[in-house]
Amino acid sequence: MMFEITTERPENRAQIEILLDAAFGSERRHKTSYRFRDGVAPDSYLQLVAQVDRKIVGSVRCWPVAIGDQAAPALLLGPLVVAERFRNAGIGAALVQRTLEMAAWRRHRIMLLVGDFSYYARFGFMPAAPLGLYMPGERIERLLVAELDKGALAGVVGDIQPWRSLRRGTGDAQRPGSARRRVMGDEQRGGEDGERRGNQHGTGRARHVDAVALGEDERVRA
Ligand SMILES: CC(C)(COP(=O)(O)OP(=O)(O)OC[C@H]1O[C@@H](n2cnc3c(N)ncnc32)[C@H](O)[C@@H]1OP(=O)(O)O)[C@@H](O)C(=O)NCCC(=O)NCCS
Repeated sequence: MMFEITTERPENRAQIEILLDAAFGSERRHKTSYRFRDGVAPDSYLQLVAQVDRKIVGSVRCWPVAIGDQAAPALLLGPLVVAERFRNAGIGAALVQRTLEMAAWRRHRIMLLVGDFSYYARFGFMPAAPLGLYMPGERIERLLVAELDKGALAGVVGDIQPWRSLRRGTGDAQRPGSARRRVMGDEQRGGEDGERRGNQHGTGRARHVDAVALGEDERVRA
């Protein structure tokens, strides 16, 4: 099956909501992990969709969070969803893989998610609790973490906190990208150049991970 991974566009949102409701039910908004998304804008470079014949069949997003007292910046991946009749064709894997590549390219260092280890282990995720990372209110074994940059987790422990709690009162709650760039000193990769590259489209083939969205010079071949 041929599919295409692109960055999400505003006109995709209604179709994504339908996919999410079908997979998780409308109750999903009461989940613990959604609390971390309330009032926080996702990183727009890291909102990807999968399309088959221009129809949205998969989606993944990432949200900025902070870890522990030191407020180490991290991303929370999810929700990840693939339309039922398009599952088991490698689309979920391509969405996760591309997100990890894009996040590393954006100089993010830590990726967290709440999900099944048996699915996410293949992408390098490991249980977070043995490393001292917790998400209050979430089942301990479901919080998983991956380092995007070797050594990123050294000395990072504690509870996952919503990003907004850090920005409260600064008027900056809707701009996590700009806030994170200050925290991480990541000046080089944003701006117009990132916008241009981040919006490039790529094509994917089942069980084939490509990275066209990274640009010609940074293409990664499976
Ligand atoms: C999880 C999901 C995104 C995977 O998408 P997909 O495109 O079918 O995934 P892939 O084709 O990359 O991978 C399929 C493989 O993952 C396995 N898999 C799927 N969900 C799994 C799970 N929850 N735990 C373990 N393995 C899982 C499949 O059995 C299949 O295994 P195989 O390769 O040995 O045949 C999709 O099943 C989905 O949308 N599920 C409902 C929503 C959901 O649970 N999202 C994740 C929450 S964090």
